[in-house]
Amino acid sequence: MRVLGIETTCDETAAAVVSDTLGGENGEILSNEVLSQIARHAAYGGVVPEIAARAHIEVLERLIVRALANARIELAEVDAIAAAAGPGLIGGVLVGLTAAKALALAAGKPFIAVNHLEAHALTARLTDRLDFPYVALLVSGGHTQLVAVRKVGDYRRLGSTVDDAAGEAFDKVAKMLGLPYPGGPQIETLAQDGDPQRFDLPRPMLGRPGANFSVSGLKTAVRQEILKLGALSDQDKRDLAASFQAAIVDVVVDRVRNGLRLFSEQEGRPSGLVIGGGVGANSAIRRALTRLCAESGLRFISPPPNLCSDNGAIIAWAGLERLRRGITNDLAFAPRPRWPLDSTASDAHHGKA
Ligand code: KG4
Ligand code: ZN
Repeated sequence: MRVLGIETTCDETAAAVVSDTLGGENGEILSNEVLSQIARHAAYGGVVPEIAARAHIEVLERLIVRALANARIELAEVDAIAAAAGPGLIGGVLVGLTAAKALALAAGKPFIAVNHLEAHALTARLTDRLDFPYVALLVSGGHTQLVAVRKVGDYRRLGSTVDDAAGEAFDKVAKMLGLPYPGGPQIETLAQDGDPQRFDLPRPMLGRPGANFSVSGLKTAVRQEILKLGALSDQDKRDLAASFQAAIVDVVVDRVRNGLRLFSEQEGRPSGLVIGGGVGANSAIRRALTRLCAESGLRFISPPPNLCSDNGAIIAWAGLERLRRGITNDLAFAPRPRWPLDSTASDAHHGKA
């Protein structure tokens, strides 16, 4: 089976084709076309929804054609068309969803509405054939949550941020340091040559029960340090970046440790810990989670950075996982700018592939 996947929820326009392997439970990426809009948003210091929606319209058709061509198949040969139907920016979601529905209608193929977070959560099954159940840490510019992944369509939130998303904190701190958007990779690079101990920044939620996150106080603390310093030298910036990143790492490790414990108490031992979302590309976070999992002999899976950030292959894969189980959607499926992962199984058609 081969599924075309379309992603337009934020600032990446993407289309991809993923196939399952003969009789197997894993998949193969036949093509994965991603066009980042970062350059168009950089001047505004963040994603501008209206610009994003227009940019998706401009390039999506071309990317779909290229994804099919690179996979060496015709639209008539795909088994289903999947699109991320949320959560995300409504204008962008509408573009991808409408394109997918139109193609499905024209080609007479099933349509599948994919929850963008579900796609991040299921990526480890594409890359590493991970078995259910497991725990997924989803960390991006819009989301920070820890999820119990029981099976396709069955997710339970173990914890989530009570204020900003982790990526948002990286982006805001980068902005304070005069760095361009998106700030995560910039902070990571600066931090490599900085002193993580120079600034004594808070670790919000550390040691608290549960697995919720908080990062907004940390961001405020960085702002106060900047105000105290006045003009920032290059070394100040490197040290602030390193101290901030070290604090985030400590918070993430503490929260994930608790979340894993909660999972084990409630559902038994997970088959692994998975990271997904743009912040999952951060190597300090990856290293710390690798260590945490090694302590308890747990498998840690960090998909390659290009599959952590937004792309069409993870949407196509989630679509394939659903299609295999006979789950498709009606063309009347409405976009969902807000779509909690816990409710993702609702209003799909079971056994109607
Ligand atoms: O998943 P993603 O590509 O888009 C959504 O937000 O959905 O994530 C983008 C976020 C941005 O906030 C960006 O600053 C952050 O991921 N990010 C990073 C790194 N690379 C991207 N944060 C920390 N370290 C990185 N290396
Ligand atoms: Zn994402």
